[in-house]
Amino acid sequence: MIDKWRIEENVFSEKTSGKHEALMTLGNGYMGIRAGFEEEYAGQKRGFFIAGTYNRAGLNEVAELPNAADITAFEIIIDNERFSLLKGKIHEYNFTLDMKTGELKRELVWENTGNKKFKMIFRRFVSLENRHLVCSKVSIEALDEDSNVKIKTGVDGRQTNSGVQHFHEMEKRVYDDKFIQYVQRTTESNIDMYLNTFLHINPVLEKSFTIERRKLLAEITGVIRKKEILEIEKISLVYTSVDKEFINKDINIGEYSLDKIRELKDSRYNELFHSSSESWNNFWEKSEINIESSDEFDNFAVNFSLYHMQIMTPFHDNRFSVGAKGLTGEGYKGHVFWDTEIFMLPFFLYTNPETAKQLLEYRYGNLDEARKKAASKNCRGALFPWESAFDGKEETPEFAAINIKTGKANRVWSAEKEIHIVADIAYAVIEYFHVTGDTEFMKSAGLEILAECSEFWVSRAEIDSKTGKYVIKDVIGPDEYTEHIDNNTYTNYMAEYTVSETAKLLESFENKKDKIYLKLAEKLGLEEKIPLFRDFAANIYLPEPAETGIIPQDDTFLSKKIIDISRYADSDSKQGILKDYTRDEVVDMQVLKQADLVMFLYFFKDKFDKDIIRKNWNYYESKTIHDSSLSMAIHAITALYFGEKETAYKCFQKACLIDLGPNPHSSDDGIHAASLGAVWLTCIKGFGGISENGGMLNIEPVLPDNWEKLEFPLVFRKKAFRIKIDKKSVELFSESNDILEIFINKQKYELKDYLRVLY
Ligand code: BGC
Repeated sequence: MIDKWRIEENVFSEKTSGKHEALMTLGNGYMGIRAGFEEEYAGQKRGFFIAGTYNRAGLNEVAELPNAADITAFEIIIDNERFSLLKGKIHEYNFTLDMKTGELKRELVWENTGNKKFKMIFRRFVSLENRHLVCSKVSIEALDEDSNVKIKTGVDGRQTNSGVQHFHEMEKRVYDDKFIQYVQRTTESNIDMYLNTFLHINPVLEKSFTIERRKLLAEITGVIRKKEILEIEKISLVYTSVDKEFINKDINIGEYSLDKIRELKDSRYNELFHSSSESWNNFWEKSEINIESSDEFDNFAVNFSLYHMQIMTPFHDNRFSVGAKGLTGEGYKGHVFWDTEIFMLPFFLYTNPETAKQLLEYRYGNLDEARKKAASKNCRGALFPWESAFDGKEETPEFAAINIKTGKANRVWSAEKEIHIVADIAYAVIEYFHVTGDTEFMKSAGLEILAECSEFWVSRAEIDSKTGKYVIKDVIGPDEYTEHIDNNTYTNYMAEYTVSETAKLLESFENKKDKIYLKLAEKLGLEEKIPLFRDFAANIYLPEPAETGIIPQDDTFLSKKIIDISRYADSDSKQGILKDYTRDEVVDMQVLKQADLVMFLYFFKDKFDKDIIRKNWNYYESKTIHDSSLSMAIHAITALYFGEKETAYKCFQKACLIDLGPNPHSSDDGIHAASLGAVWLTCIKGFGGISENGGMLNIEPVLPDNWEKLEFPLVFRKKAFRIKIDKKSVELFSESNDILEIFINKQKYELKDYLRVLY
């Protein structure tokens, strides 16, 4: 039986450490702490990432989220033997992350090499209530005889990002013979981190402090009597100089954070945990999805996705966004991609729109950098970076990993050519407006983003001398195995959508003669631009299905060689095809890394009939390796567009296994944030059939055969409600009496506090 709230391991294995460290990461959007064990193991990769604290480790390096000093390790020595599960015997073992409360717990009975047994419980949480707070509790019970113990814990600044050191060591000191403060500063971005910690020890044992290079530890020594339980609680507070509360304030953060930890001197693990778990409760009340499925794994996987979206998203600060690995690992260096706007933002938009707004504000805050990037490519408007970090500069590495035989590295073209990101961000702004109706945001940020994105497309496109149409040449679409192509269907349609919707929106604001809008219009010269946008939208080349019904992915894709990809598509190893073929060879084949034309169908299904969607889905699915975690869930949702609910369900389950399967691609690098967002998309936009059209909500559910019921919360146009879908009906419950017009299976209804529709 699967418990839908718990990720559990009942057997200790060093081999799976990378997997559980990533999957069972604790966090609160401010910080993420991988679930490394308290004791040290060779393959273990501790990770402590604080949102927005990027640093460049050296010349020509891109910005990276550094791995901060560790506060989770406990070195436990019992009767002169270092506690390690690789020695002695394990009698009982359970390691669990409770996603409902955000607590990590390990309970075990260990027999040391001297045949003495100990019951040990390790608990840990990162507070969702106080974003700076991390607590651990270690309990050791001597089951057989009195035993000598020595325990060391504190702050360990020896952490690196796979060997790359991002910090200078600054002050380290013990205050009031109790509070450890360890300060480190990033080497280039000069961000200070203050790690403050202290211990409650019960029963009282002898305590001293030891200082080493990049380490400051408390050392506890004494005897645990037979049947006595030694409990050590470790309370830690982490602050950095980029914390929002310190911006423009002349505060000594070291002193401030010390005052804060002193205030906690009498607080205990249980009470602090209680406050945090209440915050988790609030989150689940707003976001929980209930699925009655014959496969319990489905609901578990969905909870896993929501848990991670909650811990990876910096709700506290609109200067930061979500990295492709959240705060769970070093992968992609903490960079932000289109993953956020297209795959993760919808979850927030439909459950907690304030956060969706913040994520868009992050882009707005970096609009000037995007303008500079566009100008550097001789374009106008805004070209957002393919990979973004703190200040919105382009952070995509220029070269991929070196080929060890040739010593050469492949050029990564995404920064130059993967410009669909501009339309992806614009799409998210438009969807945000449709779902929320938030005109204030549009006037203060949204319209400017849209106008600048549209301006970019108009300036980036060229007019084909034969057809007189706008064409967009030399790009990379979502499928990164196909480079330097002209008229990528996804890109062209998304550009058209951006520009035509922008023109419509600008005109509607202009008609209202709103003062703020008129100012913006003057600043950006919108009066002259709107006709240009209209012309572009009317005349951009939009590929259509060929006689065969197949829509070309780009101008040349369909003329490329076809190979049998089954051995790569079915393999667990990522990017296996690049072991057999060079990148250039792959570029010349009809082989897709990830959904591209199918990604296009995801957004533009209404333009085609079911037959065309089916044909294209089948054609492209057989050529897609799904070497990106962004792919499978989109194939799931689009299979529903031609009635293949069981194929959709199979793809959904495969998408759920990306991080949860026996061979997850996550481990050391971290989880796949976008694929977790895509699991929500598949449930709600796919099976739940939720979509919006110009500000109207549509519900057209299709439950897979395995599911009896799907229930989830939604916020649309400020109205919050829950939707219950079963095989016969859709029910909606709301606590407010405001009227919302909605379409259910194409029929119009009014929702006040309750509505039930049979179908
Ligand atoms: C995918 C991109 C994605 C990136 C980060 C790449 O492998 O091709 O679409 O944005 O990973 O998740």
